[in-house]
Parts: sequence; structure tokens; C-alpha cells
Amino acid sequence: MRVLGIETSCDDTGVALYDSGAGLLAHRLFSQTALHLDYGGVVPELASRDHIRKALPLIRAVMQEADTRPDQIDGIAYTAGPGLAGALLVGAALGRSLAYAWKIPAVAVHHMEGHLLSPMLEPDPPAFPFTALLVSGGHSLLADVQALGRYTILGESVDDAVGEAFDKTAKLLGLGYPGGPAIARAAQDGDPKKFKFPRPMTERLKTQGAHPGLNFSFSGLKTAVVTAVRNRALTPPFIADIAASFEQAAVDVLAIKCEWALERTGAKQLVVAGGVSANLKLRERLKQLSEKLGVRVYFPRPEFSTDNGAMIAYAGYLRLAVGQHEPLAFSARARWGI
Ligand code: KG4
Ligand code: ZN
Repeated sequence: MRVLGIETSCDDTGVALYDSGAGLLAHRLFSQTALHLDYGGVVPELASRDHIRKALPLIRAVMQEADTRPDQIDGIAYTAGPGLAGALLVGAALGRSLAYAWKIPAVAVHHMEGHLLSPMLEPDPPAFPFTALLVSGGHSLLADVQALGRYTILGESVDDAVGEAFDKTAKLLGLGYPGGPAIARAAQDGDPKKFKFPRPMTERLKTQGAHPGLNFSFSGLKTAVVTAVRNRALTPPFIADIAASFEQAAVDVLAIKCEWALERTGAKQLVVAGGVSANLKLRERLKQLSEKLGVRVYFPRPEFSTDNGAMIAYAGYLRLAVGQHEPLAFSARARWGI
């Protein structure tokens, strides 16, 4: 089965062709980062308009690269949520219409399910069941993944997502958007022990060593950075120390929660995905943790940590393979629980 995937949930137009026999045939990504640069964040209307401009040329390019005609495509997968409503509608309308024109099924994919399954595109992939940490700009969650579509949320952020905390901290330091890679770069020259930032909701309780659960909170960490930066000159060494101390605190929180989640599920596989999983310090730390616990950890290749069309094509293939597809009417959901 050959599936075309379309991702337009935020500021990346991603398109890919996945083949169940041959694997990923081609994928293209157009990042709108430059378009939104002057605004300090993604402007939804500009994002929608640019998806309209870029999606079809990317689809043509991917089909050409994979030497694939429309009659060789068996289904189309598009991201239907969660994300920016207008941006989602571009991909949903395009995906649904092409599927109608080509007389093939279309399937709506949950963006976070795309991230969740993205490590399965790599050689030697994980198999169900596993425990998953999903960390992106909009979500931080831990899930017990039993099978395709059978996900039990173990914990999620009660306030900011971890990627959002990276983005806000970067903005505060004048490092631009997206913040994650900028913080990681700045942190390379900094001292992670220079500032004692909090690790919210990670203190073991005094009674019987019980822990405060698997939910996350990142707004307190962000506030601590705001306080540390107040009335200080943003010199490069100061920025580097703040970035390194912040990154260390965020990585510590994620690693502690992963350990508790694995304790609870008893899983022998940990899957880590979403934009923040591109972070090398986090990868290093979770590899150490997995060795300590005798668990295998899986990541997508760094380029597929952040938004892309390949993960949507793959998740769509799995859904189509079990007979799922959409009626002619379609919708996009800005909010959608996994
Ligand atoms: O998955 P993604 O591309 O989009 C969403 O679904 O949100 O994730 C984007 C998020 C942004 O907050 C970005 O700052 C963060 O992932 N990110 C990183 C890194 N690369 C991207 N955070 C930390 N370290 C990175 N290397
Ligand atoms: Zn994403």
C-alpha cells in the first residue's frame, strides 16, 4: 500500500510518500520560520496562506522523486488536528479533495499520533506495547501505548508544554524562534549549574517515598528564568549560563518522570518523540536512564522529531491498513485528545 501524507498543523508544510513494502519513498518539508521571524511567533493567517502556496508543489515534487503516478497511490493521510484551525483546514481540504479526485480513501490523522509512531520509521523499530514520552510545542505527555489507537495517558502538563517553555525562555533571552534549537546552541557555552532553577513536581513526598505523579508543570520553571533575568544585562556568557541551567532543569524533569512512568508500566521500551526529542542533552540523558533500567529507548531521526509529512503518511498507512477512512465530509479539530 502506498500512502501520501500531508502535514499542515502549524508552520511547516510536510509531504511524504510511504510504501508498506519499500518504506519511505520521498519526503519534503517547507519551514515557514523565516515568514514568522519578525513576529516572535507563528501568525496563524500567514501560516494558512503559505500552506496553500506550498502544499501542491511539494506533493508534485514528492511524487516526481518517488516516480509515482496518482493511480499508484492507495490512500491519502492528512493531519486533522490538533493545531491551528485554518492551517489544518488547508491540508484537510487538499487531502480530502485529491482523494476524491483520485477515487481513493482519505484518512484523518491525529498530529500527536503521528509523532508517537514516528520512531517506527527507523531501522529496528519499537513494537507495541511501550511507554511513550511526547514532547512538543503544544504537548508534554506520557502514555502507556498498548496498540494502535489504544493509548492511556499517564500524565500531561498542567500548564505550559515543555517546548513552549523552551520557546518562551528563548524569547526572553532574545534568541528568536523556534526556541528549542536556539537554547540548545546557546547552552553549549554555558554552565548548567550556574542557576538553581526548580524541577517542578519532582520532589518525592516525605511519606513512604511516594512521588507527586506523572503530570508536568513548566510555568514555574519559566517564571524562575524571568526572575533570574530581571534587571540583568543580556551578555553572551550570561545568556549561555541561563540557557544551560534551564535546559538542564527541563531535561531533569523529563528524565525523572520517564523513570517513574517506566516503574509504573513495567514496559521494556521507551519511545520519545515530538519536537523537543530532537534535544541532544535529553537524548543523552534518556539513553543513560534506559541503560540503568534495562529498557530500550527509541527516538525518531532528529529531522523527524519536529513536524514532518513522513510521520503522517506512516500513521495514515497504519490506520488505512485496518480499514479506517473518512466520509466525503471532513473537519479539522484545533483541539483533539489523543
Ligand atoms: O513537534 P513540533 O515540531 O511541533 C509541535 O507539534 O508543537 O515541536 C516544536 C517544538 C518547539 O517548541 C521547539 O522549540 C521544540 O519543539 N524543539 C526543541 C528542539 N528542537 C525543537 N526543543 C529543545 N531542543 C531542541 N533541539
Ligand atoms: Zn508536532
